[in-house]
Amino acid sequence: DRAVARTIERVCAVIPDYPEPGVVFRDLTPLFANGAAFRETIDALLQQFEGSYDVIAGVEARGFLLASAAAYAAGVGVMPVRKQGKLPRDTYAESYQLEYGTATLEIHRDDVPAGSRVLILDDVLATGGTLAATTRLMERAELSVAGIGVVMELDGLGGRETLRGQRVSALYTA
Ligand code: PRP
Ligand code: HPA
Repeated sequence: DRAVARTIERVCAVIPDYPEPGVVFRDLTPLFANGAAFRETIDALLQQFEGSYDVIAGVEARGFLLASAAAYAAGVGVMPVRKQGKLPRDTYAESYQLEYGTATLEIHRDDVPAGSRVLILDDVLATGGTLAATTRLMERAELSVAGIGVVMELDGLGGRETLRGQRVSALYTA
């Protein structure tokens, strides 16, 4: 969809040398703050996966904004994929590599019935470590991944290869 890609290009901010010299950071908060652009983005994400999911998962923190709006629009439930230590009941946990060290994501074991089809949403696909850990969490919970939708894919960081075998849709590639 060319129109939504143009909107994302026009509205998102590009910040050179953040969070460190040499990194060009893409900031989606202006897109979230723009009502028309936000709605266009949510609608475009849902359109890619129409009819293929029972619940929508969002990855902390920015994925929550997308998943919750999309789930409401689609009339399905929302599932938070949380950073370690935030969920009070039995969880599955999966770790992934950061540039320095590792991070861990968790889901509750029984919030969503086994066999459900999950659409996973996040704002940015970079190395794919975050979303690969998220797909492993879904497998552990016996949920099937209907697809992965992101607003923006950062080219050249290997995200697609890391997520090979999954249906990945990015509205815009930078
Ligand atoms: C960012 C972004 C994605 C992830 C992408 O989140 O929102 O979730 O990094 O990177 P990757 O493809 O290399 O894994 P971050 O971990 O900074 O957390 P935040 O949303 O809480 O700021
Ligand atoms: N923007 C937002 N999130 C990110 C980025 C970026 O440029 N790189 C890795 N995660």
